[in-house]
Amino acid sequence: MTLPGDGPQAPGYRVVELHMRATTQIPNDRALPALVAILATGLAGVLPALEFDDRHTEVALRGYTLGSRATFEVRTARRHFAVKAYAEDPASEAELYEALAAAGLGGNSNVRVPPLLARDHNLRLLVIGWLEGPTARQLVERGQGQRAGELAAVWFQRAASLPLKFGPPFGAARMLHRAQKWAAALGATDPALGTAATTLVGKLALTQPRERTPGLVHGTFYSRHLLDLGDGPGVIDWQRFGQGPAELDAGMFLATIWRLGLRHEHLAAEASLAEEAFLGGTADLLDERALTWHRAAALLRLADKLNSRQEDWPAGAQHALLGEAARLAEIAG
Ligand SMILES: Nc1ncnc2c1ncn2[C@@H]1O[C@H](COP(=O)(O)OP(=O)(O)OP(=O)(O)O)[C@@H](O)[C@H]1O
Ligand SMILES: [Mg+2]
Repeated sequence: MTLPGDGPQAPGYRVVELHMRATTQIPNDRALPALVAILATGLAGVLPALEFDDRHTEVALRGYTLGSRATFEVRTARRHFAVKAYAEDPASEAELYEALAAAGLGGNSNVRVPPLLARDHNLRLLVIGWLEGPTARQLVERGQGQRAGELAAVWFQRAASLPLKFGPPFGAARMLHRAQKWAAALGATDPALGTAATTLVGKLALTQPRERTPGLVHGTFYSRHLLDLGDGPGVIDWQRFGQGPAELDAGMFLATIWRLGLRHEHLAAEASLAEEAFLGGTADLLDERALTWHRAAALLRLADKLNSRQEDWPAGAQHALLGEAARLAEIAG
């Protein structure tokens, strides 16, 4: 999450009463029309179809990227849901939630995505159900790495048979194209990182996997986007979905799991258990070489993301991510 104060035009927050029991911090960000409307009329005023009363509502900001998107957790007397405000029209994400529900991933399934509860085209706003349960990342943190890996595997087994054929192409070619930008950004931060990243991109270009028929991919399958719903997995935050190989999401999942052990050394063994369980549960589904390639590319992506918040990480974290990526790219070749 990018916090205000990070950018030159940081808008700051306005703490507003909104007739709620607790005051709530609403980013004062004019790029997100829903935030402007919430500040003006309150949340209940913006979402009349949901028929709730601001006085019995708790709201918490759970994600915010300046000028791009904000996610709120909302509890009313009767419901628990997420309000997602965007700068760009989220119509395709809304359609995806509907299509996934129609494909059977709704309330009665043990593999679920959030239901779409409401949307406002003009305000660029979605309301989706809140899925209850710890994230895969939290499972690893609390010593349940194996469970995290097994749940992810159940998701991939179910996703493999989904008939959804829409969304922009999102495969190795696009990943490679973006990888060049990440390498350039890393080089601007630190020439040694740039050299390591450029060598990696060269290796990835030579070993690009041949892709099988593409299917639905999430696009940001981080360990915090997979939830343990008790009877199965739930997957949230579909903003970046597309059509691509399952190995792309699997590679990102494993990269974010590995990163947990990098950030907190004491989690490395638990992260390995998650990885082992995941690989065991998907061996029949995923191409090993393609998965290794996508893991390497995902680690480069994560090294690039660290450019904006290195202070939360141990020294040398970006070099470590690129080192692991280079090791995997070698295997993939
Ligand atoms: N429908 C949901 N059910 C359960 N938890 C949710 C839901 N939507 C969001 N969350 C929680 O709020 C967090 C932020 O939401 P989301 O991922 O939609 O926003 P984001 O701007 O992409 O944030 P980030 O950059 O941290 O991923 C999630 O990581 C998750 O913990
Ligand atoms: Mg997210």
